[in-house]
Amino acid sequence: MEVNIKIKRFNGKEDKIDNFKLNIEDRTTVVEALMYIKDNIDPSLSFRVQCRSAICGTCAVKVGDRHVLACKTKVKDLLNENNEVLIEPASNLPVIKDLVTDQSVFLEKLKLAKPWLVPREEWQPVYPEDLKKFEKETDCILCGACYSACPAFEADKDFGGPINFVKIFRFWKDKNDSLEDERVKLAVDENKISSCVHCKYCTFMCPKEIPVEQDITQIEFYAKQKGYIKQDNQGFGGFGFGFGGFGNF
Ligand code: FES
Repeated sequence: MEVNIKIKRFNGKEDKIDNFKLNIEDRTTVVEALMYIKDNIDPSLSFRVQCRSAICGTCAVKVGDRHVLACKTKVKDLLNENNEVLIEPASNLPVIKDLVTDQSVFLEKLKLAKPWLVPREEWQPVYPEDLKKFEKETDCILCGACYSACPAFEADKDFGGPINFVKIFRFWKDKNDSLEDERVKLAVDENKISSCVHCKYCTFMCPKEIPVEQDITQIEFYAKQKGYIKQDNQGFGGFGFGFGGFGNF
């Protein structure tokens, strides 16, 4: 099938859209299309790719209105009625060149979530039911698809971003982590959880199907119960929509 791959390019000074016509098969991924273009049409095209197996989180881009892993996503699934796709760099990050963004912005912010285990003095045995509480969250590969999709940065550039709350949730639920409520206070004070608008784009775009918005809702609900979020500091989201239940709380 012949398709038109439109790519938003940036050369350090200005943006432009380039069009590349190529034949794809049903199984052709976005990364394979980009590699074909680089190898056969325009060697100056820049993009990031490493594992090509949806493991390393390197290849997140925006395609149409989706924020995807380019190595996991088939071109045919994203074509419009004219057999075209528009590939752009991930949003909410500065662009270095073409589809390559400066990820140091969200990686620096990630430190605000302390995304590491702070162990207790005495190790407690971990059973399958303990792991179930944060099993999905351990799948996060830091691809930034949720960060790219998040509209909350428009109103609050200091918002930690969805990734940070996935990490906070993962260690908050781990009984061998010693920080306990400190994790929730980090979410409120350092990561501005109240600025979440509960749109659920993070959940919809996560290639690992992590219930990101549900995690945010649980942390926020607990913070309100404990008084870590003052009732006059409701942010944009509140709990009006996006309430995901507290099944594994
Ligand atoms: S290249 Fe590693 S996740 Fe896509």
